[in-house]
Amino acid sequence: MSDPKKLFIKTYGCQMNVYDSERMAEAMGGAGYVTTDRADDADMILLNTCHIREKAAEKVYSELGRFKGLKAANPDLKIGVAGCVAQAEGEEILRRQPMVDLVVGPQSYHRLPAMEARARAGEKALDTDFPEEDKFDHLVARPRATRGPTAFLTVQEGCDKFCAFCVVPYTRGAEASRPVGRVLAEARDLVARGVREITLLGQNVNAYHGEGPDGRDWSLARLIHELAGIDGLERIRFTTSHPNDMTDDLIAAHGECEKLMPYLHLPVQSGSDRILKRMNRSHTAESYLRLIGRIRDARPDILISGDFIVGFPEETEADFRATMALVEEVRYGQCYSFKYSPRPGTPAAERATVDADEASDRLQRLQTLLTRQQAEIQNAMVGREVGVLFEKAGRLPGQMVGKSEHLHAVHVRDSDARPGDLRRVRIIESNPNSLAGTALD
Ligand code: SAH
Ligand code: SF4
Ligand code: F3S
Repeated sequence: MSDPKKLFIKTYGCQMNVYDSERMAEAMGGAGYVTTDRADDADMILLNTCHIREKAAEKVYSELGRFKGLKAANPDLKIGVAGCVAQAEGEEILRRQPMVDLVVGPQSYHRLPAMEARARAGEKALDTDFPEEDKFDHLVARPRATRGPTAFLTVQEGCDKFCAFCVVPYTRGAEASRPVGRVLAEARDLVARGVREITLLGQNVNAYHGEGPDGRDWSLARLIHELAGIDGLERIRFTTSHPNDMTDDLIAAHGECEKLMPYLHLPVQSGSDRILKRMNRSHTAESYLRLIGRIRDARPDILISGDFIVGFPEETEADFRATMALVEEVRYGQCYSFKYSPRPGTPAAERATVDADEASDRLQRLQTLLTRQQAEIQNAMVGREVGVLFEKAGRLPGQMVGKSEHLHAVHVRDSDARPGDLRRVRIIESNPNSLAGTALD
């Protein structure tokens, strides 16, 4: 038998891309490939790309430029572009970078092995369809391969919300949910392979409405309650949610389901109703704050995280101050904040932009506030007892690292814990991006 070929995958963007990269690696396993973490050793290089902001998209071309030498040294090397840039730019990529052999959009990954074969035969392969069949039905996990203690599981994809700044509805297509039975089967398989924490993924995960075994649509809350019944699965998380899809049963689940972790990523984007309207977000600052209040009633210690865009077209200083006021009121434990980036084909890209220096200044002020809130919430953990799911060894001898219920990274010294162990830990120290603690059992 010939040696297996080697596949190098580089992943950009969101967790859904991380999940997709795993599925693509598995699909290529069936075509005789094993993965490598070295590009210069690979027979095939695959970039799984992100189109959300201009910087993310442009990175792809500079990265491709770096592979020129590798391709010259090894003419058999195949280079592929997957993900949201592949979907958005398609043929344009083949034009701009002739050394690219294949371009595959997020809904066509199950066709990757066939595309690779075409590329090996000297053809350029391009597939950015939104096919009828469900790619996940054709992307089957390798039996028996062991896993780390945490895993992502995509349950929903695409988006119908069309926020004025966002490319996702165009790159990922219409909102769709996987059937309950398939999600449960994949979850059980992950647990059998050693997974103890599953994060359910979707661009709008709380819009989940997959077909249940009873033929009816199940909500995300119902799916979570069902998953909680799997022995050996200790923790459930989900991301990313939209404020308008936070249904009563999902809010209640945070108070009822012990395995559902007290952490919720609920992006608001802006605190100004005028800007929210122009963003096509269809919620107001007040309705968002009311929602946060109801979620905290259900689960008082929940950690709220979010996303913000500053410098959206027409944003004034007063609009920005409304965002700062909303942040003060919510008290976020963790946040991502971005300067607005105009994206081709989106409605907001046609509008007058905010002065770049002004936008940078606002981003800095917002990030200062968010960093302070994050530190305050982390510091308040000192002295408390938390549960930690250990994931791997730390950098220091005898040190182990894991995550708390609130998704804080926790370092423990002189621990005999192994990856996958769930232990009680007393927090003794709060550092810029992690906590330190001592094991109690
Ligand atoms: N589905 C999620 C987020 C998807 S994109 C939601 O509805 O909130 C992740 C984040 O990227 C967004 O929350 C937004 O804050 C940011 N983002 C999206 N488009 C952007 C753009 N054009 N410029 C800057 N940030 C953007
Ligand atoms: Fe983008 Fe808005 Fe859909 Fe989120 S809800 S993916 S921000 S269009
Ligand atoms: Fe980026 Fe596509 Fe995810 S644009 S954020 S990789 S859905």
